[in-house]
This record gives sequence, structure tokens and C-alpha cells, in this order.
Amino acid sequence: MHFYIKSYGCQMNVYDSQRMGDILISLGHKQEDQAENANLLIFNTCSIREKADDKLFSDLGRAKVLKDKSSENDFIIVVAGCVAQTRPEDLLARHPYVDMILGPQSIQSISERIDDLIKNKNLDTLILTDQKASDKFEKFNKTGSFAEKSVSEYLTIQEGCDNFCTYCVVPHTRGREFSRSVKEITAEAKSLVANGVKEITLLGQNVNSYNGVDESGETSRLSRLLWELSSIEGLKRLRYTTSNPKDVDEDIAKAHRDIDILMPFLHLPVQSGSDEILRKMNRKYGRERYFEVIDMLRSYRPDMAFSSDFIVGFPGETDQDFEDTLDLVKKVKFSQAYSFKYSPRPNTPAAKMKNQVSGDVKAGRLQRLQDLLNQQQSDFNSSFVGREVEVLLAKEGRHSGQLAGRSEYFQAVTVGNSDGLNIGDIVKVRVTNAVSHSLIGEEYQIEEKCEIKRKSKVGGIDEC
Ligand code: 5AD
Ligand code: SF4
Repeated sequence: MHFYIKSYGCQMNVYDSQRMGDILISLGHKQEDQAENANLLIFNTCSIREKADDKLFSDLGRAKVLKDKSSENDFIIVVAGCVAQTRPEDLLARHPYVDMILGPQSIQSISERIDDLIKNKNLDTLILTDQKASDKFEKFNKTGSFAEKSVSEYLTIQEGCDNFCTYCVVPHTRGREFSRSVKEITAEAKSLVANGVKEITLLGQNVNSYNGVDESGETSRLSRLLWELSSIEGLKRLRYTTSNPKDVDEDIAKAHRDIDILMPFLHLPVQSGSDEILRKMNRKYGRERYFEVIDMLRSYRPDMAFSSDFIVGFPGETDQDFEDTLDLVKKVKFSQAYSFKYSPRPNTPAAKMKNQVSGDVKAGRLQRLQDLLNQQQSDFNSSFVGREVEVLLAKEGRHSGQLAGRSEYFQAVTVGNSDGLNIGDIVKVRVTNAVSHSLIGEEYQIEEKCEIKRKSKVGGIDEC
């Protein structure tokens, strides 16, 4: 079949979507970039905020139109991921034409019923939401990697969450924490590198509590795993996300000092700068602990850049609580950040709390916070004009002759004079200009030439 996958939400979903792609390609199906060219549509959904839910329902409406128009008998619609896990009955009641509903730990079953569905149009919808993370990774390990890789890829090392922040739906969708073994992760990382990948971002809801077993049966912490992966020949950059401030330890800070391919950038969501709100969120740290973690990391790696997530308008958030958040932002100085209005989620304690904050107040606070964060990002980027950054070229730029990639600090950088350069090269770039969310520069020194022939995903031209 010709399949199309749309991923919503976090990077873990992007990873899961790629692995579903690997399974389908291994069975002879073909991936398409446009839903219109496919007859197997997969929506890998997110339920972190209500908005993400809404997007799915409008996309499903469009999918139904395609299904109705299809003259073939074999048009299959699959809803996978977090919405599938939390609301399968609701989904089915509103969208009875959906053929499969697969929770985030059941996506490996994507191929199971395709043949049956083609033969028999009238099969009941298959709903699978009861598998374990270990089942999923077992299947992934067996399948191997087939889909074309880019220079920078994700690798899930840990999944699920035991923290139970009171606003968060994740423990209800991805379940308890599960860490993959060091051996499995190392094998997957080696295979990515053999396929031309230069940068790997390790993923988990809570990577700092990674505790997978190593070859000797001992549990390994994240810092140990980072050391292990850093010895893979050909791997040029390592990142990891997401970290909870309560679990960041000194070994991680030392790893940032000592592992040369570990990038000096950390996404460290604080959510709020108010101790009272952090307590109500069940974050298990206060603002002082957050400052301590930032200071510790900066003491080992002075140029470390930080990003964060913020929620405004959590139930009971007062003007003073919000001012405390602005104060924290001013003290830390972030290089970039994401901020959201609190969105009540089903079955979470915060959704039932009194003193829900009105939409208008949330909107006003979000605007003020984003103005400050945008100013900080712009100041951070402007401080690079005239300086040099190292960029891993990952894609073509918006205009012809340009290539684009990320700096060590995760800034988006466009390189103007890309003659003689290829995707996959690591280059020193002199920054000539900073615009609000990115840098523009001129290449002046090639640090690492990409030695692997890679087909460009755009246009099918050999890149290097
Ligand atoms: N409402 C708003 N934002 C949320 N996040 C998680 N749950 C909610 C919610 N109910 C945000 C947090 C988290 C990011 C991935 O999404 O900031 O770090
Ligand atoms: Fe969304 Fe969370 Fe599920 Fe990721 S794990 S897709 S952020 S609900």
C-alpha cells in the first residue's frame, strides 16, 4: 500500500512515526509525502493540550472525504498515539470509518490487520491499547531501519513517566517509566551512524531518570550511557531531551564538560517560577533548586545555553505567582523557550482543582511571558554577530544556494555561501546577522566533510 503518516506533538511521536514507517517499508509498502497519494493514512496523535486534539478531528474529516472518494476497496485509516490511548471509544463513536486505533505502546501492530482489512471491508475497528513499551521496542529492534535517514535523528531511550505532574496526561497515555537497555540503544545508534546520521538526540519523557541495564546486568545512568555512545566512530553530536530539574546530577554536568560531542545546550522545563504553583504541579523542586541546577551546569560548562517550557494560568496562579515566573526568566536568561496556556486534561488532578484561571488572564500572561522570552532569544542571538559558530548542515535553505542547520547551542543558522558544501558537513560559520529566531552567516572553514553519499530528500539529488 501507499502510506502517509502525520505526526502531532512531541519528538517521541516523530520517532514512533519513523519506526512505523520502518515496519511498513520492511513489508514492501511505500511511503508518500502527501495524503492525497496514499491509501493508508496514519495519524499519530497527541493529547498534551486540547488544541492538539482539535487538529486531529479536522484532519480526520478530510481523511474521510479521501476515503469516500477512493474507488478502491482498500483505503485504511489508522489513529495511533496518545489520543488513541485515552479516548478510543469517543474516537470510534465520532469517526466510525476509522479502521485501527493503536495506543503509543501498540503502534508496532500497525501491519497486523492490513491484509485482512483489504480482503474484508466490513471488519470491526481494531482497538489495541494494552501493550507494553517492552513489546514495542522488541518489535522495533527486530525490524531494523529502512526509511531514509537525515543527518540528525531521534533515538528513544526511555518512555513513560512516574512523576505524575498534576497537569499532565502523559502517565495516562505512555504509562510508567521504561528504559531500554544500553546494548539495544548502542546497536540502534551504530546503525543510524552507519546510515549517515551525524547527530543523535536521545529521547525520553524523563531522560535523566534513565536506568537501563548494561552488558553486565548493572543499571546504567544517563551520564554512563552518554559516555558509551560518545565512543561511536562517526557520531559527531549528541543531545538529549527532556530533563526534569529534580533529576539533573553532577555527573551530567561533568559529562557536558568532558564529552566533546555532547552539545552545550539543555532543554530544562521549569513550568513556573512560583514555589506555590510548583508545589501544586507536584514538580518536586522549587525555584531555588532550579537556580542551583543552572549554576551547577554553568560552573562545569560556562557557555551552556538553556531552553525551557512554561505553563501560564495553572489553577490558582495569582498575579504574584506569575511575576515570580517573569523574575525567574530574567534571572536565568534563556536562549529559547516554549510557553503554553494551561489546558485542563481529562483524568488529571489539576483539571479538578478550584480557582481555574480565566482565558483572558491566561492570554494576557502568555503574551507578557512570550514578549520577554522572545527578547531574550533575540538578545542571545544578537550576541553572536561577528562571532563564529559550528553548524551541522542538515537541509537546503529557503533560497537557492543556501544551506541550513543548527549551531552547538541549537540556534537555527542559514549559511549564505554554500558552494562546495553539502548536507552533512560540519562547518565553522562567521555570523553576519541575527534575526529573531535564527542566525545568518558565511562559511569560512570546513571542520568535517560528509563522506557518505546521501540522497537529498528534496529532489533526489546526491548531496555529497
Ligand atoms: N496544559 C498546558 N501545557 C502543558 N504541558 C503539559 N501538559 C500541559 C497542559 N495540561 C506542557 C509542559 C510540558 C510541555 C511538553 O507541554 O510545559 O513541558
Ligand atoms: Fe503529546 Fe505527551 Fe503523547 Fe508526546 S507523550 S504525543 S507530548 S501527550
